[in-house]
Amino acid sequence: MQKKYYLTTPLYYVNSNPHIGHAYTTMAADILARHLRATQRPVFLQTGTDEHGSNIEKTAAEKNIPPKQWCDDISDNFRTLWKTLGINYDYFIRTTDKQHEEAVQAVFEKLIKTGDIYKSEYEGLYCKSCEAFYTESELQDGKCPVHHRPVEAIKEESYFFRLSKYQDPLLKYYEEHPDFLSPSYRAREIINFVKAGLTDLSVSRTKVAWGIQVKSDPAHTVYVWFDALLNYITGRGYNPDHISEEFKEYWPADLHLVGKEIFRFHGVIWPAMLMALGLELPKKVYAHGWWTVNGDKMSKSTGNFIRAEDVVADYGLDAFRYFTFREVTFGQDGDFSMEAFRRRYNSDLANDLGNLFSRIINLVNRNLDERLPEDPSSKTYAEFAALTDKINRSIEDLQFSDALETIWNAISTLNKIVAEKKPWEMAKKDPEALPGFLNEMVWCLRLIAGWIEPFMPATSASMKVHLGAKKAVSEGEKIQPLFPRKAENRPEGK
Ligand code: ME8
Ligand code: MG
Repeated sequence: MQKKYYLTTPLYYVNSNPHIGHAYTTMAADILARHLRATQRPVFLQTGTDEHGSNIEKTAAEKNIPPKQWCDDISDNFRTLWKTLGINYDYFIRTTDKQHEEAVQAVFEKLIKTGDIYKSEYEGLYCKSCEAFYTESELQDGKCPVHHRPVEAIKEESYFFRLSKYQDPLLKYYEEHPDFLSPSYRAREIINFVKAGLTDLSVSRTKVAWGIQVKSDPAHTVYVWFDALLNYITGRGYNPDHISEEFKEYWPADLHLVGKEIFRFHGVIWPAMLMALGLELPKKVYAHGWWTVNGDKMSKSTGNFIRAEDVVADYGLDAFRYFTFREVTFGQDGDFSMEAFRRRYNSDLANDLGNLFSRIINLVNRNLDERLPEDPSSKTYAEFAALTDKINRSIEDLQFSDALETIWNAISTLNKIVAEKKPWEMAKKDPEALPGFLNEMVWCLRLIAGWIEPFMPATSASMKVHLGAKKAVSEGEKIQPLFPRKAENRPEGK
């Protein structure tokens, strides 16, 4: 059996509802998965929710809701959003799933036995929001470098994972697998961090009740990151006590997609955990950049927060998927503003693609009585077809904006040809030449419909319907625009 291309998103915390940042990683995974499926490669996409830890315990307590019920509700909201966003995932894992919890417990006991986990006492600086400890030197102005909130000095009995033991094996692995940490401009930071020296990691808590109990020592719950990272194997049937045949079809993962702020967890701690378990490492961890909104960090309290559902309700799903992957190089940080969104919507979608498409389809419907000839031989078509490989390569390298740029350059080439040839005049002046010209345009548009499928599935499908049949609409009727124009300065929701 051909090994499936196994790719994952992070497991999102259920302490708040999803926003465009969560949507971004999940849509990226979906785009790659759709592309692989379309090119006959078996693929498996796993996503889910991260549900334990003091943050979630606290949030639920504030709302007076039992933690599990809180988790059920928010986890549902993530699944609902993935439906709205057309995400074709294969498995949704929750860290409160029984199978996951049991496997985490078994891993913990196994590593106690092998000596990779041992009991000691922890004293350190803890950020509650990160659920992570920091060293003095990692703090910024004495505060957590991610949340810029004060850290707490904590002393407690704790189990430790022998991370220090894996410093050299990790460095050797990075050296021998230069693509493991991607993109390379983000890898250096991780490698330097490991070179500076790894200390053992506290992986249990006595103060957090909402977590997976350590089986042999129930006063302790498993540190939420140790719990959550294991999802990538437990979700595929891994349990150290009984490794399933199924697991071997998936592991090692081909790609973990993550945001840059959790690259270290995935590039250092996770591979060390896998080494301790004697398992292969994932082929690649890719850390993308962060979205700001109107130049600032997204935050509910300041209202600087964009819900993906709202953008989709207003502009359609495909426009949202297009914008997020066209606007910013995948890997770099980017800024989301509705102004920039509208600009691209009107120029790239309503104008460049939408107008071109309805022009050609209306001409076809008005001027051709016969079926279009099944003849794709033209110079432009041949040049276009040659772009398919380039576009595929860009998607497989996660260079989504490059792929879209190549496609939109092709669209602009077609627009130039149409402006030069003026097919609406041809109908009167040179009717003999019209069918051949329209045929060429239709074949080129068919290619474009295929190229955009992973990014804009609905637009692709609706283009294909019109391009497949000679008369897609009845006499005298005009086709619906793919992207109705929107006023540039309209207030939101209008
Ligand atoms: O970190 N821009 O969960 P989380 C781009 N549970 N991507 C963003 C983003 C933004 N502004 N905000 C969030 C956790 N993301 C852990 C992960 S994995 C075993 C455990 C995306 O809910 C991005 O992928 O904080 C980021 O890494 C992730 O959401 C963090 O989600
Ligand atoms: Mg986060």
